[in-house]
Amino acid sequence: MIPESYEGREQAYIKHTLLEKYLERLFMILGKNEDTICYVDCFAGPWQEDGDDLQDTSIAISLNTMKKCRDGLLKTYNKNVHFRALFIEKNKNAYEKLHAFLDTEAASGIETTAMNGVFSDLRGDILKWCGKTDFTFFFIDPTGWKNVVEIPTLKPLLQRPRSEFLINFMFDFILRTHTQIEFSKHMQEIFGEVPDTAGMSSKERETHLIDLYRTHLKNAQPNTGLKARSAYVKVLDTLKDRTKYDLVYLTRHPKGIQVFMDASEKLDFIQKRVRAHAKEAHHVSKTKQPKLLSTEMINEPSDEDLNEVKKYWLNKLSDQPKRFGIEELADMLEETAWFESDFQAALKELVAENKVINIDMKRKRPKNIVNFDNIERLVRV
Ligand SMILES: C[S@@+](CC[C@H](N)C(=O)[O-])C[C@H]1O[C@@H](n2cnc3c(N)ncnc32)[C@H](O)[C@@H]1O
Repeated sequence: MIPESYEGREQAYIKHTLLEKYLERLFMILGKNEDTICYVDCFAGPWQEDGDDLQDTSIAISLNTMKKCRDGLLKTYNKNVHFRALFIEKNKNAYEKLHAFLDTEAASGIETTAMNGVFSDLRGDILKWCGKTDFTFFFIDPTGWKNVVEIPTLKPLLQRPRSEFLINFMFDFILRTHTQIEFSKHMQEIFGEVPDTAGMSSKERETHLIDLYRTHLKNAQPNTGLKARSAYVKVLDTLKDRTKYDLVYLTRHPKGIQVFMDASEKLDFIQKRVRAHAKEAHHVSKTKQPKLLSTEMINEPSDEDLNEVKKYWLNKLSDQPKRFGIEELADMLEETAWFESDFQAALKELVAENKVINIDMKRKRPKNIVNFDNIERLVRV
């Protein structure tokens, strides 16, 4: 189910799967129009790798994805896209491994550069390497958070146009420290305020903290007329039912939110299976007794009750036709953190119950009750 090299590192597997799935979709979409695409891994490693081939690291995963997309773009669209990749690493030993690995990749046709140093010291060099015009994806996956995820540290990068970000937000650490006086300056820099979560349930607290961070990130983006947008995926502790970290995504493209959430939904299923298997292995090692994986363990019920989603739709709609395109979908995904399939499933029931009509739907559809790519109009009956 999970490659052997990831055993005991299930969270890394989840993170790498998301990175791979999202980058693949992104590069294939962007590559149709871009001549050059840049990728920057600001905390590259290698870190906790299983072997010298580095195949279980974000370095190899990103490079393999770039090669695959470069070949795919050439074959499908006859488009020759130049991929450039920059890897930053502070630790000398890790940097040497990184450098040696990139040497073995020299013939791949991907332009690679490695820099040895501290991310915050190298921000100017990173921006110089990116140049001003090419689209750049920044992966920010540190081991700690000081001088990393705070907005003043990230701001020079956040201010760059034509950029997207995937940031590892160490939620479990933030949860423990956000109320401690000695961290209040850092909290101010991360959230724009010292979060007051007194009296909140653990679910409310989590949503509040992550939303505060996303809002602060968005507000740090330059005003270019394109709305800053953000979504996130929870990476859960393997054995305990709580968030380990969040992968926070930042873009200016509504389509990006749709594609990212689609990749997250696929990840959701993988994450459930991986955790169910890890729990099973843990159980066996403790009790020496196998316990068959129940479907219930794998298909944990969706957090979101369909009725909630139906209520949300009905509140949004009226007897006047309302247009739903990618912008509206991105707003809804950002606001609720539900998946597009949740919205489609709820709408399907509402249409069947004659409570909502899609006036642009000419023929009955089994799914995609609203086609957001086409912009369609919905009316509440
Ligand atoms: C979590 S690991 C990266 C894992 C990698 N992204 C992956 O998924 O395979 C973080 C890496 O950042 C390096 N690092 C830590 N602090 C750094 C800093 N301030 N600047 C640059 N690199 C740093 C660490 O040595 C470590 O290799």
